[in-house]
Parts: sequence; structure tokens; C-alpha cells
Amino acid sequence: MITATETNLKLPRLVTELPGPNAKRVVERDAAIMSPSYTRDYPFVAKRGQGAIVEDVDGNAFLDFAAGIAVCSTGHCHPRVVEAIQKQAAELIHMSGTDFYYESMPILAERLAAMVPGNEAKKVFFTNSGTEAVEGAIKLARYATKRDKMIAFYGCFHGRSMGALSLTASKATQRKNFGALLSGIEHIPYPYAYRCAHGHTSETCGAEILEQLEGQIFKRLFDPEDVAGIIIEPIQGEGGYVPAPKFFLQELQRICRQHGIMLICDEVQSGMGRTGKWWAHEFAGIEPDILCSAKGIASGMPLGAIIARESVMRWKPGAHGTTFGGNPVCIAAALATMDLIEGEYRENAAKMGDYMFARMADWTKKFKIVGDVRGRGLMIGIELVRDQRTKEKAADLRNFVVDRAFHKGLLVLGAGENTVRLSPPLLIDKEQADFAMRTLEECLREAEAKI
Ligand SMILES: Cc1ncc(COP(=O)(O)O)c(C=O)c1O
Repeated sequence: MITATETNLKLPRLVTELPGPNAKRVVERDAAIMSPSYTRDYPFVAKRGQGAIVEDVDGNAFLDFAAGIAVCSTGHCHPRVVEAIQKQAAELIHMSGTDFYYESMPILAERLAAMVPGNEAKKVFFTNSGTEAVEGAIKLARYATKRDKMIAFYGCFHGRSMGALSLTASKATQRKNFGALLSGIEHIPYPYAYRCAHGHTSETCGAEILEQLEGQIFKRLFDPEDVAGIIIEPIQGEGGYVPAPKFFLQELQRICRQHGIMLICDEVQSGMGRTGKWWAHEFAGIEPDILCSAKGIASGMPLGAIIARESVMRWKPGAHGTTFGGNPVCIAAALATMDLIEGEYRENAAKMGDYMFARMADWTKKFKIVGDVRGRGLMIGIELVRDQRTKEKAADLRNFVVDRAFHKGLLVLGAGENTVRLSPPLLIDKEQADFAMRTLEECLREAEAKI
């Protein structure tokens, strides 16, 4: 059979019932052996991909608006990324940057550092994942400040290792039964404008949270001079694609500067051009002391990075290390990814994001179950509610929409309790955006008919 990817298909092509016979077989086999902790929403069994199209094991082609959880920024198997990986794999696969040198490491570090705002020079540490970047950021903030307390936000997700999990406050299941986590961490509310307890807008939500931080936490719990870092996702990812207001991030920076606290931006999901800028914090014009990146950085190869001000990343040899982080093959993929994002995809993310937001501008009027449409660029959240007045969360309807979209050939994921997330590859075109919008409209209409 001619594969969908061979024909350069741009839109879905479904040829079997879903799941098809081969997909069913893989799902059964998987269930018997794989850890039950994975959270698959629907039985999509991937075989190959190209651009924004992924094909399953039965020859069904889907339009991918999930991109492997916001990872495949340049689409699936971009020829230039594949070529870079193949060339590097034939030359040198591994050496370990912790103990040896290879030239591509500083080359990528220089390019990443140049993308981070601020006059001060930067230093870079490569990791294997977002979690490892966050884990390293915790250690770096402690090391640099000689303090051990941290502030994080409800709804934020920073990873699942014991340190990163201590900062994560996304879903209780992620912590349940794992016992004591890191001490000295306080969580405060995230400025979630749609559900702002004080009725503020997406520009003004959060003033009371900052008052709580300065007036309560810093007075009653932690002396600010004991606080090593405040970590925030400038746009909350797993929590439901919620952007923090510009003033809020600016004020957070002011508070950090005032007390010598490290401002850590977790841009694992929101970074690398997805929002139309390299980093989401750029919209607020702030300069984080420590930045965590991963996901979209290498088009699917496992790579993360901690990028910090030079005066912050001054830990001594041996203080931190990793065997695989910054592997030459991952770096080659990242360099090709950066070329593509710089070349056209960042701009395309901004353009296609504007286009889709314009298409969805009337969705809260058109659909009574759409409470909010938000985000930036190609990081878009659609929050579903049972009632627009009470804003009762409609987790079941969100799950229904995600499942129906799959059956119509569109891959999307949920985020938070009741939000549909759109995180397509940054290369999508108008035709693909239109298909996604039309399909979601159909799914929302079907969901509405259920209440
Ligand atoms: C903002 C953020 N930080 C950290 C992580 C953890 O990254 P990883 O799954 O690569 O360890 C994620 C993953 O979803 C994330 O969205």
C-alpha cells in the first residue's frame, strides 16, 4: 500500500474503523506488559509521520495537533532534521559531554544563549528531558543563593522526579502514594484570568496573589532571604494552557530582584517558537535568571537545557553532571530544529496562531460549552464548561471532544481538567488549520447535544 506520508498527504485519510485490527493488536499487547501509569486517551498506534500527518499501523492518516505533547515542533521527520541525525549518527553517537568535549555542544549552547534576553552572558547545561532541566534548576538556584526555600504555583507542571514533583501542583494523582517530597516549597495560586476570584481580566489578574506572597508568605512562612527561587510557567501547559498576565511576570521579576531570589522560567512547553516568540516570557519583557527548555528543542530527540545568567551558573566541577544530556545526535537535531524555527516556523506559528484565534473569536458565543479560548501562537487552550455562567468544569465533554476528534482524524490532547489543547507542529498551513477548526466545531456541536 502507498503510505499517506509517501503521497505528501496534508489532511487525514481514514481507511479502517478505529481502532483498526493492527492497532487493536498492539494495544492488547501493550496492556499486558507496559506500566499501567501511562495515560492514553484513545487508541492511536503510530507507525510513521511526515509534517503534520501521522499514520497509524492500519494505514489511517491523522492530522496531528498534539505533536507528541508539543515536541515535534518542525513536524514529523523533517528531512533536514532526519539528515542531521543520520549524518551525526554515522560520525559519533555518544561521548558524554560531562567528561569529554565535542564542538557541537558549545555551538548549540551559544545559539540558545543568544536567544535568551538580557545583557549578561549566559551559561548552558544540557539535559535529557524537561524534568531533568527543572531538577537541575532547583539545584542551581540553591547552589547560587545558598538558600533552600522555593515558591511554585498551583496548576503548574514541572516534572515527576522527586524534586521536580515537589514543585508540580497539577494533579493529586501525580503525587499520591509517593510520600514526602522536598520540604521548603510553598505553592501559591496561578493568575488564571478566566477563573479569577477577584473578577480581574487577563491583563490584571493576579495582584492579590502577589500581595499574598509579599504580605503573608514572606511575613509568616519564609523570610524572602531564605528563598532560593520562584519557578513559573509563563504560560501554564499541563494546567490548561493559561497565560500569566504581563504585569504579573514583571512584578514577580521585581520581587525576585528585590530579594535576590532566582526567577526561574519553565519554558519546557511554551518555548522554542511555539508562541510565535522564542520564549513566552518575552511577551512580558522580563529576563529570567534561569530558564528551562526541552520538548520542542530537538524535534523529538531527547534534549533539554538549563540556560542561566553567567553569574548564576558558577557551580564547581563535579557539582552537577549527566551521562547522556547533550548527546551529539540530539544536538545535531536541535541545530537543524533551530535553523528551521528561525527560518520560517516561528513566524508561521505567530501567523497561524493569529489565524486560528480569529477563527475561534466567536466560539464562546457560538457554543454554550466553550467557556474560554486562550493562549498564544500555536499554544491554544479551549476550556469547556457545562454552563458559561457558573463555569462548571465539563471534564466529560472535554474527553468526549478529544475522542470524537480522534475518530474524525484529528489528534488533540486535553490539558488541565477540562481544556482541549492545540499544540500542532509549527509548520501547519491554512488548509490544515481550517480542517482542525471545522472538525473541532463538529465535535463541540456533538458535545453540546449531550447536555
Ligand atoms: C512546563 C513543563 N515542565 C517540565 C515538564 C517535564 O518534561 P519531561 O516530560 O520532558 O520530563 C513538562 C512536561 O510536560 C512541562 O510541560
